[in-house]
Amino acid sequence: MSGLPSVGRSAEDVLRDLEQRKARDTDSTASRLWSLVYYHSPQVLEVAQRAYALYISENALNPLAFPSLRQMENEIVGIVKALLHAPPQAAGTMTTGGTESIFLALKAARDYAFFHKPHIAHPEVIAPLSAHPAFDKAAHYLGLKLIHTPLDPSGKADVRAMEAAISESTILLVGSAPAYPHGVIDPISEIADLAQKYGLLCHVDACVGGLILPFLEKSGIAFPPYDFRVEGVTSISADLHKYGYTPKGASVVLYRQRELRRHQFFIYGSWPGGIYASASFSGTRSAGAIAAAWAVLQFLGESGYIEAAKAAWQATQAIRTAIKEIPELYIVGEPNATILALAAHPPLDIYRIGDGLAQRGWFLDRQQHPASLHLTVTAGHNRVVKRFLEDLRAVVSEEKHRSTQRKWRRQAGKALLRTGLAILPERWVRNMARLITRTAQAQEPPRRTAALYGMMAALPTQGSLEKIVEDFLDKALEN
Ligand SMILES: Cc1ncc(COP(=O)(O)O)c(C=O)c1O
Repeated sequence: MSGLPSVGRSAEDVLRDLEQRKARDTDSTASRLWSLVYYHSPQVLEVAQRAYALYISENALNPLAFPSLRQMENEIVGIVKALLHAPPQAAGTMTTGGTESIFLALKAARDYAFFHKPHIAHPEVIAPLSAHPAFDKAAHYLGLKLIHTPLDPSGKADVRAMEAAISESTILLVGSAPAYPHGVIDPISEIADLAQKYGLLCHVDACVGGLILPFLEKSGIAFPPYDFRVEGVTSISADLHKYGYTPKGASVVLYRQRELRRHQFFIYGSWPGGIYASASFSGTRSAGAIAAAWAVLQFLGESGYIEAAKAAWQATQAIRTAIKEIPELYIVGEPNATILALAAHPPLDIYRIGDGLAQRGWFLDRQQHPASLHLTVTAGHNRVVKRFLEDLRAVVSEEKHRSTQRKWRRQAGKALLRTGLAILPERWVRNMARLITRTAQAQEPPRRTAALYGMMAALPTQGSLEKIVEDFLDKALEN
């Protein structure tokens, strides 16, 4: 790692260095990652890069200094409002990502409750188990209690369990459209009805679905209602930097009522530096992310997004059809969008299949409960899906072979033990048995591989997993 040079280096030298460093990373434009990157095409990337570069120095903190940014933000929020059928009185803001949008929706709900339900001392939020950890994070920061409720066998929120969890202190119910782990859309109408019945707010996390479900619908695919068409929905988060194919740092949070949005603002009037006001969490904000988001929305237009949604859908269907023909694999739950979770029937180990795919250059995050591999299918994947499925079939067949070999080895070990019991001294047999048990345990990869969201890491599970991950993050962020 290089420190600060005492004298600056030439631009060529620095950029060459950067290119060399980047060459060691996964190529984000090859559609070999099944999470983290939403890649559309070189054309979209170029428009985004040029727009970003044009606004590289501006700051979106103060809407008065750069009116063009304020205008772009208003237009972007307007576009997302229309896509999600927001009523005329709805209002929203741009944020830097799903986590910030969710944070603000929870902050608005908390402060709304402080104002309208002052008897609630310790506000509670109810979210299905599949809800994104951004809710846990926001609840942690905001001093809210987050209650997780179970899923039904299809992977959807169990609405009866949500109702049972409602208490005097509940302020908000959450549903996802779809949830990230298994791509299942929660029964938003039922959750929103429940919210209305008990006089609660209802947030829909459409971070991942908000910029694809509307276009799939426009192309003729029907979904259970998930947006402001559902009366009891009071806020929605929708990320542009996911299926909007815009650079990272762009999301929108929308509220059915303008009044609710006011509760996300922060204003401090006594600072010697002036009256400080910010609509979202961040202070200084990247103007590049806003300009690039606006540019990509304009470049693709409705027809471009419909094409992109159809391409992702096509690739998803190709994977689903192929999985039906591989008896060792199955799709978790009943996904209804473009996200899938792939699991294996025992004795096959899905994490080993993930390792085999990684050796062939495909990177799929590992998930848990149940053990599965995650696939967020994007437009870019439609170009590579055939190749991916060929590799998947090959890896499954290799794994089947290896798993048979392992079974033989275990059986041979047991036979040896039985023979040994009959003819060898007892102490020798005991030692041998111990050795075989140890070897068999060492061959159990699920015990050695942990699911780690957003990362692909193999970690031992002894001790507290959270502590190990905490240490891992601490070491990874060296300075
Ligand atoms: C459903 C859902 N909500 C929230 C988030 C968090 O978004 P971000 O990573 O942009 O903060 C994600 C990210 O994948 C998501 O899939």
